[in-house]
Amino acid sequence: MAHMLDGPVPDGARSVSWPWYHHVLTDELTVDARTLFEQYAKVPPKDVENHIYRIRDKAWGIFPWPCIGEFWFLSFGLAKHPLYHNLVLPRLKTGDSLLDLGSCMGQDLRKLVFDGAPSEKIYASDVFPQYEGLSYELWRDRDTFPHHFLADDVLADNEDFMKGALMTKLGPGQTDIIAINMFLHLFDYENQLKVATRIIRLLSHRPGSLILGSQAGVRPPMEQPLKPPFDKTEDGETRTIYRHSPDSFIDLWKRAGSFAGVPIRVWADFQIMEKKSEQYPAGVDTGLEAVASKKPFTADDLFSTSSAKRVLFSTEPEARRLYFSIIRT
Ligand SMILES: C[S@@+](CC[C@H](N)C(=O)[O-])C[C@H]1O[C@@H](n2cnc3c(N)ncnc32)[C@H](O)[C@@H]1O
Repeated sequence: MAHMLDGPVPDGARSVSWPWYHHVLTDELTVDARTLFEQYAKVPPKDVENHIYRIRDKAWGIFPWPCIGEFWFLSFGLAKHPLYHNLVLPRLKTGDSLLDLGSCMGQDLRKLVFDGAPSEKIYASDVFPQYEGLSYELWRDRDTFPHHFLADDVLADNEDFMKGALMTKLGPGQTDIIAINMFLHLFDYENQLKVATRIIRLLSHRPGSLILGSQAGVRPPMEQPLKPPFDKTEDGETRTIYRHSPDSFIDLWKRAGSFAGVPIRVWADFQIMEKKSEQYPAGVDTGLEAVASKKPFTADDLFSTSSAKRVLFSTEPEARRLYFSIIRT
């Protein structure tokens, strides 16, 4: 997917007519997100919106991911995971390492540090190396946040993957916690299985090591054709992505665990999206209102330039967010 649309273009050269390019912030800039910009990135309150627009447009030039156009990167998916407060933060504070795979703007890592996690053993990885510099620009922490960015392609063929940054700089069996938010759902089923197996191989050999995250899910599970401009491979073949139900997701990871020869226990559920926001611990922003206010995508919306329309990339009727954890036993 990363090799579509000719990759990065210079600032301002990417069309903003894709409907998931939302021209203005509405409810995405939550109190939590603003707090991080003001208190962690030290952006003056009156400049926060413009700071976000400026860097978001640079990111759009790297690649028009829905997470960039729709400002998902302000929603801090990792912090909404049910294990974030009870397990992830305490374990980082006692010395565990964490890799954010498909880290994009690096927001989940900055939220961890803001919430008290030490940054020394935190790593980011993405197929686009440009996100390293852009994350420093967004979070204004080039001098304080560690330079632990590993540019790598999780879909690379075996030989290249074994020589890549993830395998050579982190290494197999080394990382205690691997976060994959809005990541695996970018791929079709076969590639998800390949990537899941690689992720398990990166995971520490210690029992209790953890893979966790969230992504778009659907019931029943299905392989779906992608929407333009993501819909064709370089060879003109139709590109698909696999959307999971909790059961199909659990099954995928059990298969990956047996390919990797690693014993795991898997949990996956839609339950977070079905709860009310007041049931969450204070300080965790659920983004539920933001999701509820978006209207379904139609073909007519595809080339809309209207800033009034708020169109989501993923809008299948049953689309929900699937939360999961995979624990090495
Ligand atoms: C939808 S974004 C999610 C970003 C972030 N985790 C979040 O929750 O906002 C998916 C990220 O995966 C990265 N990605 C896509 N294909 C990849 C690949 N083959 N190898 C590594 N990263 C990839 C993209 O560049 C992008 O930053």
